[in-house]
Amino acid sequence: MKQEIYPATRLAGELRIPADKSISHRAIMLSSIANGTSYVRHPLLANDVQRTIAAFQKMGIDIVEERTGSLKINGRGIKGLEEPTEEIDVGNSGTTIRLLMGLIAAQPFHTILSGDSSIARRPMARVAEPLRLMGSQIEGRNGGNYAPLAISGKALHGITYKLPIASAQVKSAIIFAGLYAQGMTTIIEPIQTRDHTERMLRSFGVPIEQVGTQITISQQESLVATEIKVPGDFSSAAFFIAAAILVPNSDVVLKRVGLNPTRTGFLNVLQQMGVEVEVLEVEMWGTEEVADLRIKQQALKGTVIEGDMIPRLIDEIPILAVLATQAEGITEIRNAEELRVKESDRIAVMAAELRKMNANIEELPDGLRIVGRTPLHGSTVYSHHDHRVAMSLLIAGLIAKDKTTVEGIEAIAISYPNFMKHVQSLIK
Ligand code: S3P
Repeated sequence: MKQEIYPATRLAGELRIPADKSISHRAIMLSSIANGTSYVRHPLLANDVQRTIAAFQKMGIDIVEERTGSLKINGRGIKGLEEPTEEIDVGNSGTTIRLLMGLIAAQPFHTILSGDSSIARRPMARVAEPLRLMGSQIEGRNGGNYAPLAISGKALHGITYKLPIASAQVKSAIIFAGLYAQGMTTIIEPIQTRDHTERMLRSFGVPIEQVGTQITISQQESLVATEIKVPGDFSSAAFFIAAAILVPNSDVVLKRVGLNPTRTGFLNVLQQMGVEVEVLEVEMWGTEEVADLRIKQQALKGTVIEGDMIPRLIDEIPILAVLATQAEGITEIRNAEELRVKESDRIAVMAAELRKMNANIEELPDGLRIVGRTPLHGSTVYSHHDHRVAMSLLIAGLIAKDKTTVEGIEAIAISYPNFMKHVQSLIK
């Protein structure tokens, strides 16, 4: 599927951004193994999260979508999952497969986890290795590094594990396994990554200790059912923050956006680039912070993004690349080699596609170097089946001369099914 997009003269209005993908996955997983009925209010019901729902339904969990859009999940307790009679297909969802690996490693049954061609290329050894140290049995292609994976549940024991890569998915998988593992499980992160799992476990009554970048969890008998209100996804909001900064005379308000500090590095970098985003009506939804954001068109200057900042904006780098084409001077993104193993190789793909639109953008082994400001030209560009690439290119189309055609826009349904409707609702 393709979408044509034309330059916009002004964006204005209010949007309610769809719910956070990371939090939605975790809420479904933990509700499924809690004792009693949990409610997940306003979860994201896009393709990736539907895969997580289907996975737990296949393991015997009753998950009902209510008319209000909430999920009612009848948890069956920490030992209540059933052996699925068929393989679990996670589609495009890296979060589903990696977090499930941790949870399933400790179940007394056999499971096959498979996914699409992007999932089949993404490294799984980073999760399988620590789980094997805990006693699990995981097999897969290429010595167990690639899906499809076959997991035979085993009794696990706690370990102390220093993560070689900063990854919230790997950390969360080990934490999930740690719920079942005998003794204590300690994880040491090289750089802090998103901490939704740690925060949410507290909502389910699980004590988890966090000292700096060290997390410790002990074997649990039970989780207590709860209610999780899911904030808007900051990573989805980022596309509209960028659009409002770029399109002349814009003034956009984004309602109830999650502002967990482990996710909002994009706001810090915008400040470095000379941009102010107004943060209004801050409140806590359970253990997560939410606020409204007001953004107006502003000038940008180039900057360097590297080191500890990278995990705090890892999913925003494609849209940052678009912004950097319009920043005065050079923007350099370093230490972001993880981008090469996301839904697509986001370094190679963003460089190739933005170049088709006249951007001055160079691929680095671990990032991108972008020279601005360069006027963008409409062109035919391709999503490479990556939702965030598709949305970034559509935003670029709003400021490019003449018509831009983005091919492969069906990928957007992974995280933001209403994206084009929301873009159109702001165009004045
Ligand atoms: C996610 C963690 C990040 C992120 C992904 C979602 C999560 O991946 O890129 O979109 O929900 O834990 P990594 O943990 O691989 O960095």
